[in-house]
Amino acid sequence: MTPHFLPLIGTSGPHGSRSAMTCKYRCANQCDHPDPNQSGNPHIQALLANAVARRTILAAGATVSAGAALAPWLTSSAASAAPATSGAGRRAAALTFAPVEPNKRDNVTVPVGYDYDVVASWGDRVLADAPEFDAYHQTPKAQAGQFGYNCDYVGAFAHPTDADRLVLTVNHEYTDEVLMFPASRYSDQTILEIAMQAHGMSIVEIVRGAREGSWRRVRPKKTKFNRRLTATTPFAIRGPAAGDKRMKTSADSTGTKVLGMVNNCAGGMTPWGTVLTCEENFNGYFDASGDLDPAYAESYARYGIAGEGRGWSDIDSRFDLTTEPHEVFRFGWVIEIDPFAPKSTPVKHTMLGRLKHEGANPRITTGGQVAVYLGDDERGDYIYKFVSAKKYRPGSGAAAKRHNMTLLETGTLYVARFTGDGEADGEYDGTGEWIALTTDTESYVEGMSVADVLIDTRLAADKIGATRMDRPEDMEANPVTGKVYAALTNNSDRGAKFPVDEANPLASSHVRDELGGPLVEASGNRNGYVLELSEDDNDAGATGFGWLLFLVCGDPEAAETYFGGYPKDRVSPISCPDNVAFDPAGNLWISTDGNVLGSNDGMFAVPTEGANRGQVLQFLTVPLGAETCGPLISSDGLTVFNAVQHPGEIDGATFEEPASTWPHTDRFPRPAVICSYRIDGARVGH
Ligand code: FEO
Ligand code: CA
Ligand code: CA
Repeated sequence: MTPHFLPLIGTSGPHGSRSAMTCKYRCANQCDHPDPNQSGNPHIQALLANAVARRTILAAGATVSAGAALAPWLTSSAASAAPATSGAGRRAAALTFAPVEPNKRDNVTVPVGYDYDVVASWGDRVLADAPEFDAYHQTPKAQAGQFGYNCDYVGAFAHPTDADRLVLTVNHEYTDEVLMFPASRYSDQTILEIAMQAHGMSIVEIVRGAREGSWRRVRPKKTKFNRRLTATTPFAIRGPAAGDKRMKTSADSTGTKVLGMVNNCAGGMTPWGTVLTCEENFNGYFDASGDLDPAYAESYARYGIAGEGRGWSDIDSRFDLTTEPHEVFRFGWVIEIDPFAPKSTPVKHTMLGRLKHEGANPRITTGGQVAVYLGDDERGDYIYKFVSAKKYRPGSGAAAKRHNMTLLETGTLYVARFTGDGEADGEYDGTGEWIALTTDTESYVEGMSVADVLIDTRLAADKIGATRMDRPEDMEANPVTGKVYAALTNNSDRGAKFPVDEANPLASSHVRDELGGPLVEASGNRNGYVLELSEDDNDAGATGFGWLLFLVCGDPEAAETYFGGYPKDRVSPISCPDNVAFDPAGNLWISTDGNVLGSNDGMFAVPTEGANRGQVLQFLTVPLGAETCGPLISSDGLTVFNAVQHPGEIDGATFEEPASTWPHTDRFPRPAVICSYRIDGARVGH
């Protein structure tokens, strides 16, 4: 999309802070993120001379070790850390639904035999004292108690006392004021305060609905855990970078506490029953009333921090880089929140590095530590992994939880280097290594302290020669096989600014300008990949791995596409994979953001093992202008949760003249979480 503007709000500093209003770098065509990685890291082909022997990717059906990914809500008690036994070891059943065709409908389209319900939409009451939603009379106080805007990641935890309930944790990534407010309010600075309250997270109790697999909100008065976290909620800062000089501001001389989280994109659930939520494009929240501190020029540049914010400095001076050069260092972290402790202070974990964090998905290592997989969503940026120093303590008691909530404070942060297999066989596979950047006490990057590495993680990774990837987004281990899947969403600069390598092989690819139109060649990787990693010995704590491109996305008619070896005439076209999830049988589900094949975005399912490996089938499409977020499959296999983010976000659309009115409850669109299910009440997908 072209950036939306709110020209009437506020005043513009010398750095033109208003010009970036609501441009959040997810347009489907040209605008696929800024790309400040200027490092001269060698690409993989330059390293091929040293390629090691080709590794064998772990065979199908590899034994699930202690390292199986754990999902807390799969158990009867949310605090329990028992493994995801409901799915482990089950043979992947073939997907049987009739795929949804690409389309441009202003609706959610699910397969024949399925239906969907809206679970929670922008403005719905979360807290008991919140008023009913009134788009024409929005206030900051009302929004602070209502479901936020642009829902993204969806986590779900078993309710501790009610088997028919779940506790949903939903990110609210960003706001789009021209779609949220009538034009008559553009000159009203209150809308900036409302926008701040529409960010963050909603924690919402839901209960089984009338139909098998459906869910609905519990009335706020009847809930214990409902909570809103926003851009003004207090957070603690922990880990080795807490208290560093760069973390201190005029409001916080300790460098250990900060108000708010922003641009919460994806996340993950820990086995001990907390949710991880990730600050992604935090750079876009900071204005500049004058010059920027030259001491931070390199750091700012590497993160795209240019004083082009959203005007928030007009109502809160900490968002002015000129007067508060350090506040921006307090954003860009992975945050841990206990959804069962509504009064607790959540923690920004500096040990997991400062990135444009997409997601954070944990897996227990063979040695009993916790590993967390991390993507940095920017063209040419890196894939990371954190491994804790301390061991995960199983059990549902309070003492175990207290211990486990310290696991992300000490350990080692790694970045990935991918090496091809050295064979010119047209296969995209090879080996890789996790290169240690720092522990909590020792930096391995020359000239950088531990705090330097954690605060300027991108600069540290540049120095050690990590592999520049095509926008690493969500990354998660398959709970059945342990293999790790990463969505590499696209990179229009691949082949030009970023030379191709075996893990990022496409310098050109095919797009469609409109549905049904011809395929047209375009420079770079436009449709993205899904990468499959096999950690050595299937151990999430390993420092080596094998890899291959499981999917080279796009239209099956385009020569460059590849679907895990499955016949290309029997798969759905897929473009721009973004977030991933698994069903209990270990099938991979992929949501997309930025389809360049002429269709609305959607959600896809694909077996990763067996005879149907690579059979990509489209499960649903989202309305016009929306991206598909938050994929989550229920542990009983009956429900697919998605967040429908930014419906109607199309050039020129406004509140009064919307491009979408989904979910068709109002005259304007409302981002919402949905649940999809089979009408006959059977497991989804099968
Ligand atoms: Fe917020 Fe990288 O998607
Ligand atoms: Ca995302
Ligand atoms: Ca995305």
